[in-house]
Amino acid sequence: MQVDESSSFQMNDVESLERKLSADIAAAGDESALETVRVASLGKKGAVSELLKSLGSMSPEERRENGPLFNGLRDRVAMAIAERKAALAREALDARLAFERIDVTLPVRPEPRGTIHPVSQVQDEITAIFADLGFAVAEGPDVEYDDYNFTKLNIPPDHPARQMHDTFYVARQSDGERHVLRTHTSPVQARVMLKQKPPIRVIVPGRAYRRDSDATHTPMFHQLEALVIDEETNLGHLRWVVEQFCSAFFEVDKIELRARPSFFPFTEPSVEWDMRCDRSGGQIKFGTGNDWLELGGSGMVHPRVLEMCGIDPARYQGFAFGFGLDRMAMLKYGAPDLRPFFDSDLRWLRHYGFAALDLPTLDAGLSR
Ligand code: FA5
Repeated sequence: MQVDESSSFQMNDVESLERKLSADIAAAGDESALETVRVASLGKKGAVSELLKSLGSMSPEERRENGPLFNGLRDRVAMAIAERKAALAREALDARLAFERIDVTLPVRPEPRGTIHPVSQVQDEITAIFADLGFAVAEGPDVEYDDYNFTKLNIPPDHPARQMHDTFYVARQSDGERHVLRTHTSPVQARVMLKQKPPIRVIVPGRAYRRDSDATHTPMFHQLEALVIDEETNLGHLRWVVEQFCSAFFEVDKIELRARPSFFPFTEPSVEWDMRCDRSGGQIKFGTGNDWLELGGSGMVHPRVLEMCGIDPARYQGFAFGFGLDRMAMLKYGAPDLRPFFDSDLRWLRHYGFAALDLPTLDAGLSR
């Protein structure tokens, strides 16, 4: 076959392009360098693609001669790129395997370091006890409207009872409302009553905040709120529920309660509860002895609170109580000071903490 001037020139051209591309492919050290070579050769405006495009302007004879030449070049370059790509992937895998060594002699998983905090444990125990009595759990936000924390609980602005709580105020919001860090869990009473028609039977275990700090007071603490509203709910029911709860929580069959008159703007009458205990011998025993242990406040929900929360006080009545949850954890588990509860000290947690998988239930025993 005769090869004319122009096609022999083309042939040299093709050979030198192939040599250059082969060298570039071999020199590509990673996938992105290889991709640059692919785009420069086989991409839309790549050198090989331009050669293939030039076939369109050739005479039939030239096309017959150069067509196989150019197509062959394209196939060989594509193959060389694919091979280099596979080789690079193998090299990357080898490098990873050499680097990511696993020492199979190490223990599978280190010993667990954390345990369940006594406050979380107590919260779970209390939820189990009240679930058994038919109570649901209600929640509300920690950053609360002043209105729910105070006004709807019959503590209007400038009422002296606001001084009873050392409140953390939050900067006024864009909606013009005043917010506080809730000083007790009682605002959730208002939230529940505004949303739910009686009969109501809920507990609210949750955080509360006050500017307070000593061995038995912390700026952030936990309370247990309970609210029951029905047509005939009375103080006798309140006493029975507190008794059942204390007996189950402190895990003693016989307990004795003492009621003291008290004052809360949102309950009338208001009652504080103490439980008989024995502190002699450096240990606390519940249900016997000559000491009294303070549990917390309670009372019949004030008719004005019912009214402000959309419940007809002529038809419905009920009780509420609010106990200090951290104090109950201290008493039950013998912690003398409340402040280490919030120190995040693992040694303290290991001493007082509970196994993560031991969920408290009434059947299996709450704290065993
Ligand atoms: C209240 O907060 C009322 N909302 C309780 C209530 C609810 C009464 C429903 C009537 C009806 P008080 O301020 O007494 O009440 O707080 C209740 C309990 O929270 C206290 O008995 C105490 O155990 C606990 N407590 C209060 N302040 C702190 C604090 N700074 N640190 C730890 N515990 C606290």
